[in-house]
Amino acid sequence: MEKIPYDLILDIQRKVNIVDVISEYLPLEQKGKNYFAICPFHDDHNPSMSISPEKQIYTCFVCGASGNVFNFVMNYENISFVQAVSKVAKSVGISIDYQDAPKKVATNEKYEKYYKLFDIACKYYQNNIRSVYGKKAVDYLSKRNLNDDIIKEFEIGLSMNDNNLSKLLSNKGYDLNELIDVGLCGRKDKYTYDVFRNRIMFPLYNLTGQVIGFSGRIYNGETDESKYVNSKESVIFKKGTVLYNYHRAINVAREKHQIIIVEGFMDVIRLYSVGIKNVVATMGTAITKEHANLIKKMAKNVVLCFDGDKAGEKATLSALDALEKVGINPKIIRLEDDLDPDDYVIKKGVDAFLTHLDNPLSSIMFKLDINKKDINFNDYKEVSKYLDSAVKELEKINDKIVYELTVKKLAKETGVDVNTINDMVSNKPKTNVNIINKRITTGKDKYVKAEEYLIYYMLRNVDAILLYQNKVSYLQDKQLSRIAMEILEFYERNKYINVTDFTIFLEDKTNLINEVLRIDDLNLPNDVSNDVINDYIKTIDEGVLKSEIDKLKTKIKNEENVGKKVALLERLRSLKKKECK
Ligand code: UTP
Ligand code: MN
Repeated sequence: MEKIPYDLILDIQRKVNIVDVISEYLPLEQKGKNYFAICPFHDDHNPSMSISPEKQIYTCFVCGASGNVFNFVMNYENISFVQAVSKVAKSVGISIDYQDAPKKVATNEKYEKYYKLFDIACKYYQNNIRSVYGKKAVDYLSKRNLNDDIIKEFEIGLSMNDNNLSKLLSNKGYDLNELIDVGLCGRKDKYTYDVFRNRIMFPLYNLTGQVIGFSGRIYNGETDESKYVNSKESVIFKKGTVLYNYHRAINVAREKHQIIIVEGFMDVIRLYSVGIKNVVATMGTAITKEHANLIKKMAKNVVLCFDGDKAGEKATLSALDALEKVGINPKIIRLEDDLDPDDYVIKKGVDAFLTHLDNPLSSIMFKLDINKKDINFNDYKEVSKYLDSAVKELEKINDKIVYELTVKKLAKETGVDVNTINDMVSNKPKTNVNIINKRITTGKDKYVKAEEYLIYYMLRNVDAILLYQNKVSYLQDKQLSRIAMEILEFYERNKYINVTDFTIFLEDKTNLINEVLRIDDLNLPNDVSNDVINDYIKTIDEGVLKSEIDKLKTKIKNEENVGKKVALLERLRSLKKKECK
């Protein structure tokens, strides 16, 4: 990425007011010195985000989201740091010419030949469907309510029952072996043939919209062949990393802060054609970690709308698993009558679909609904079993309001008193908030606390930075240790320290920024002598020594070689001596 110099970013930041910028996105309410808003980064009910004009910083005291004006724009719009800086600069009339470096230029160029190949194939298939030979295919699509505009937009084509694509490409000088590598052609004995035959061809795209493969559908009513045939994986096509329609959906998803995930590309095409454009498909595969991370960057609100049948239910459960692992808390739509989104819109209409979209289930409700399905509510034993399973889900809820509403619903369903259900749940949420990543200081051991306090002073006091530099060899907490190193680097370059500017220096390192601002909020006495800081450093050293001793003890326990054991014990004794000093 091309780096915007720190001084230029700082200059832009000095010219804008974070309050003005955020008020373009959210209604603000002034209370005393600060402004408050409903936090857009978690499911907020009361204004929990405060914006300090003095510090030019926002912080949500519930979810811990925090940062400077650039971080806000970056996280709210889901854009890169460079894009956010440019955008903020523009709002004060500064035009800067920095762009994100195009991703992976090198590999793109390397595979340019393949992209060209798929581009030719795509045009060739489209030509076929427009020709007289395409009539039956167009009829089929039109029976499925897909008109010419959609055919054009999604570049839908047709493969023929011949080997003309192979011929065309080899006449253009392409190496047949390469065509075989990317799965457009196959070879039997000496003959090269077209892989896709007699199928309606749907191009598959990478994230930037280049064609990297195809999926071909039967349309003649053949029943003995598989419905779809897909390109095999190749150097440019990895199924687990692409989401169908990503390049068309990304901007709408960012605008709407919502992305809908469906199973099939027909579902995408249908929803898109009725104006619901923030939609992508997994194309029948399980959601991979790459998918999940990609989805996370698309929008804050994720809606899973898989097929309404039993298989779709199973796929939803496993998708939930994969998404929750990367911190996404998706909502779920279950369509009735076993329909998939495509058929649903056709049979029940767009409005019926939109009603679902407006009332999605939480993952808890979805799971409870599944458990409920086979329960006979007249059989007390079954009701009791259902409640047991529900309690397990209730224990996972950490938002008090969500918790209470769920308990009420359960009580109504089962006829069991709210209090009884409450008694069954062992750890109820205490606050009406959904704590996402706010790390709480209480409960940490005194050594980590000392590390935090040291950072607190390093953020405002050059002496503390110098003491750290000269005396501290090691911080046990990895994140705190990174922050300390960043502070040192900031100081060495700029010869001063202040929290706001330091967050600008941290650019898009959101996790570090959140942690820095949390520590900055600790409310410790501000003017302390170096003695106090030296005391913290002493405690930190003690902690390091203690953990070294602990590690050594485990090692000694597991060591079977007597000679080595003696050496380790020797070392333990010398460490313990140090500890007593
Ligand atoms: P579906 O069987 O739900 O297809 O598979 P669909 O979207 O409803 O398609 P139509 O309406 O019958 O035309 C969902 C996805 O799984 C993949 C495809 O990507 C499809 O979009 N799939 C399905 C295959 O790859 N091969 C198959 O044989 C079937
Ligand atoms: Mn379908």
